[in-house]
Amino acid sequence: MLAFPEGFLWGTATSAYQVEGSTRADGRGESIWDRFTAEPGRIDDGSSGEPACDHYRRWREDIQLMQALGLQAYRFSISWPRIYPTGEGAPNPAGLDFYDRLVDGLLDAQIEPLVTLYHWDLPQALQAQGGWARRETAARFRDLAVTVMERLGDRVKLWLTINEPWVVAFLGHLYGEHAPGLRDLATAVRVSHHLLLAHGLALQAFRQLNLPGRMGISLDLHAYVPASSAPEDQEAAQRALALESGWFLDPLFRGRYPDTALAWYQARQVEPPVEPGDLELIAQPMDFLGVNYYTRHVVAHDPSEPWTGIRNVAGPGPVTAMGWEVYPQGLQEVLTWVHRTYLAPRLAAVPASSRAREEVPSAGSQPSPWDHPCPLIITENGAAYPDELVEEGGELRVADPERIAYLEGHLRAIWQALQEGAPVAGYFAWSFLDNFEWARGYTRRFGLVYVDYPTQRRIPKASALWYRDVIARHGLDA
Ligand code: FCB
Repeated sequence: MLAFPEGFLWGTATSAYQVEGSTRADGRGESIWDRFTAEPGRIDDGSSGEPACDHYRRWREDIQLMQALGLQAYRFSISWPRIYPTGEGAPNPAGLDFYDRLVDGLLDAQIEPLVTLYHWDLPQALQAQGGWARRETAARFRDLAVTVMERLGDRVKLWLTINEPWVVAFLGHLYGEHAPGLRDLATAVRVSHHLLLAHGLALQAFRQLNLPGRMGISLDLHAYVPASSAPEDQEAAQRALALESGWFLDPLFRGRYPDTALAWYQARQVEPPVEPGDLELIAQPMDFLGVNYYTRHVVAHDPSEPWTGIRNVAGPGPVTAMGWEVYPQGLQEVLTWVHRTYLAPRLAAVPASSRAREEVPSAGSQPSPWDHPCPLIITENGAAYPDELVEEGGELRVADPERIAYLEGHLRAIWQALQEGAPVAGYFAWSFLDNFEWARGYTRRFGLVYVDYPTQRRIPKASALWYRDVIARHGLDA
């Protein structure tokens, strides 16, 4: 039996725009994803987050299902335009009420809520003023964070500020694949700095409000490997690491952007708009780091790529329906690398007397990853496959052996990383439900639970039942 540490938290994750629907209900304002999905050609199947999984109306039933599956935690995000329909002014009480009820419902079901404050649905009104390219948007995010923390902070103990700032900045503002669909390197770099600033402001506010609990950020991290032994490919893999992971990890843990990445951008007349005090704010110690891991990147040098000189090529392993290579070992590599490179040096700098935190669910003599001042939580991991709903003996079923193998492989990788000392405190499978997969629309299914969109029926896939057993046993077969 590969047992997981005491206190290790098992959950699933979603985000507001991907599951809620009801995009016009109860005073919700327009978000950049409402606007983006309405533009022809942006989304593979021409769909939008309406009605998604209709979770805004079906949340009670969804919590019951979580409970039936034995889930211990649920990660969801706050829809910013439900709280601030125009991005500023007075908060919309109906929006806050929704999340208030959701949190109470989860706690009644003994499910720990993990709240993401920003999972990509910026109010369109703020985009109209410049969006994340504008420094003031970070201040508006702080307002959102304070409003939500004041309302939910007595019950929510786990918070994420921003989900995947690389994706927001670069897929949204350089590659144009995500809202707001821009293509400009300087803008993407500005945006990345403002997202980090927003994180720092929210974390500072969290400390000022003196709330119990922990706050972190989720980064999309990959393992990187050069496509060949050619020096330029080796260098490209190093560059990818610095431009994608280091660009966020270094400011957060070391208070500076990586020199190589800065030099690369400076050569393209691009610089993050750092003002005095920003990096100190960004590098305030956080209480955990969220790691989203799906695949590795096999990196080739590509001189025709104007912004990064990088091209990701297909790896040798099997791929999911996203075309992402299944490479569980990469998760172990990422966790041990982050631990060694970022957590351990910072821990060494903290006086032993101030290391332990009071609310830690620490367990007896066994060291708990929650005792670490900045544990790692896998806030997303999962796979899309072309699932089919079949009727067998009057029952609806979805057999998804590939997803089970994917999840199991990654849980084994986490277990390995734990043996090597990485303080991993929890795992959130992406996703609880099939949902709106951004530019791919509804053409990709990531859920442990199948959603039959025409009827909105939920059918737990074989992987959901498998995960229920993993949770019940708190581990895997050796
Ligand atoms: C991540 C996103 C999440 C989901 C998965 C598949 O990048 O955070 O919303 O779309 O990918």
